[in-house]
Amino acid sequence: MAELIRAEGLTAGYGDSIVLEDVSLAIDEGGSLALLGRNGVGKTTLLLTLMGLTRLQQGRLALQGNDITRLPAWRRAHAGLGWVPQERFMFPSLTVEEHLTVVERPGGPWNLQRVYKVFPRLEERRRNLGNQLSGGEQQMLAIARALMTSPKLLLLDEPMEGLAPIIVQELVKVIGEIVRAGEFAVIVVEQHARLALGLTTQAMVLDRGRVVHRAASEELLRDPATLDRLIAVA
Ligand SMILES: Nc1ncnc2c1ncn2[C@@H]1O[C@H](COP(=O)(O)OP(=O)(O)O)[C@@H](O)[C@H]1O
Ligand SMILES: [Mg+2]
Repeated sequence: MAELIRAEGLTAGYGDSIVLEDVSLAIDEGGSLALLGRNGVGKTTLLLTLMGLTRLQQGRLALQGNDITRLPAWRRAHAGLGWVPQERFMFPSLTVEEHLTVVERPGGPWNLQRVYKVFPRLEERRRNLGNQLSGGEQQMLAIARALMTSPKLLLLDEPMEGLAPIIVQELVKVIGEIVRAGEFAVIVVEQHARLALGLTTQAMVLDRGRVVHRAASEELLRDPATLDRLIAVA
């Protein structure tokens, strides 16, 4: 498999404060990475840094061999980075369908029909406004919106956060199918580490902005003692 994305020595933060230090990662086309770590260690900041939304102090980023270190966020999105933010960001005055069509990449492999096939609930809700959706539906819409851009790399920031167990089950199934299809690469940030490990092939653990562990997801799943040491809340 060809390499899709490579980050080398990312040191980044907000203003003068440095949150991430010397973080590197590489993901092949169609590959998947679980990004784990306790609250506040810098997982969201790493995704924001990949999107070009933090202050980068050092390091470089390449997508399919092209240097994108200096590209602004919107050009990274065009280049194939799809971001599902932790806060979901719904527009209260847009319908479900409008959320989806405004970001569609014409001619890309994803369109309304295909997204509705993955999330039939969104089709039922297509005329509802963003603020009329349940938490689970908003999360589906946030993922669907990223899919509509036909991404090469999908960044999922705690997609299961705050959702009822039955919705989590449904989302895990759908995300699992998308990830396993290998049509694009995925980074999954998740507090439920075992969920994320079950969805991915590689894993990386952050602590205080640094990478403290890398392993195959399967290997970490089989080693609960190490997993607990790395991510359990002290
Ligand atoms: N916009 C911001 N401005 C300043 N500091 C921030 C901002 N967002 C997050 N931080 C700080 O960066 C650190 C990492 O946060 P974050 O990346 O959100 O962690 P995680 O996603 O792993 O919970 C925290 O100490 C947090 O307080
Ligand atoms: Mg976060």
